[in-house]
Amino acid sequence: ISLKPYNTFGVDVKSKYFAEVCSLEELIETLKFSNSIKLPLLFLGGGSNILLTKDFEGLAIQLNLKGITEEIINENEVLVTAKAGENWHQFVMFCLDKNYGGLENLSLIPGNVGTSPMQNIGAYGTEIKDIFESCKVLNLETLQIETFNLEQCKFGYRDSIFKQEGKGKYVILEVTFRLTRKNHKIDVEYGAIQSELEKMEITNPTIQDVSKAVISIRQSKLPDPKVIGNAGSFFKNPTIPLSQFEALKQKFENIPGYPNGDFVKVPAGWLIEQAGWKGKQIGNVASNLLQALVIINATGNATGKEIFDFSTMIIDSVKEKFGIELEREVNII
Ligand code: EPU
Repeated sequence: ISLKPYNTFGVDVKSKYFAEVCSLEELIETLKFSNSIKLPLLFLGGGSNILLTKDFEGLAIQLNLKGITEEIINENEVLVTAKAGENWHQFVMFCLDKNYGGLENLSLIPGNVGTSPMQNIGAYGTEIKDIFESCKVLNLETLQIETFNLEQCKFGYRDSIFKQEGKGKYVILEVTFRLTRKNHKIDVEYGAIQSELEKMEITNPTIQDVSKAVISIRQSKLPDPKVIGNAGSFFKNPTIPLSQFEALKQKFENIPGYPNGDFVKVPAGWLIEQAGWKGKQIGNVASNLLQALVIINATGNATGKEIFDFSTMIIDSVKEKFGIELEREVNII
């Protein structure tokens, strides 16, 4: 079947076999079958962080486990657990409706709850590691359920054990977050949120206000994948040694950077824009006019290979101009 509806780039590749699973039992049944005939597996969540570059000769599994449960811990804390197939933004809205704090800065991120720990999703000063309690996974080899706590997930910037040594070994079934019930920690350090709140004339923001500000910022520069195919930031923001940053500063005096010890994180969007790619289109693919870090399926007809080749051109040109090698954030399949 065509996987076009299952990836936010809207790339039309085919999978030889396809299964949608709505419960743990269905998932285990499906895996017993696929293991018995040694079918390669491709797990699909919200499809918002993958680039499919060719037809898949195995079984694609759409994880559709649903459900949200809560456990009140004390006056100020609640544990909320969402199954993997819950849509991320709907989950954030559910929590905000109940006035549970901690997820507001992560409003409007595409994808499902189940894939959020994979790359430790983050935006506007918050990463899921900040509110993460644990997740339950299915071990694909033993078909046993295991629990990973915060430490075991080894979260880093857009990184976790599930992208490293645990890659391909587990399916995330559900994720539990520790949220606040009243003494909310409002984080509006990120400059863009502050100016958005000023525009909204809000001085004492609630978690709901912060969410509104984030939604408005995202809508103003990130294309809606339902309208224009994309997978958010295509590359990670590179971290370079301070000495290299200082040398670059001599040549490019406006280069932005966020220092972190002996290293500096440089916004990839700036590098890509300076290398002349912002808004540029080649064939069916373009760099987004409002945020160069986002690559878009501009005509709706782009192939995965075209998008991949476009990203390679960006990597080469940034490397030539700045000597920095961008790393793709999107999973290439
Ligand atoms: N910039 C440019 N030109 C551009 C884009 C960005 O010069 O075309 C520069 C500007 O200096 C701007 C800075 O880059 O101030 C940062 O841009 P922005 O605030 O848009 O954030 P980002 O670093 O490009 C990261 C995340 C986003 C997240 C935002 C907000 C990564 C790879 N991306 O983008 O995450 O929403 O911060 O926190 O870390 C995603 O992962 O899909 C994603 C959208």
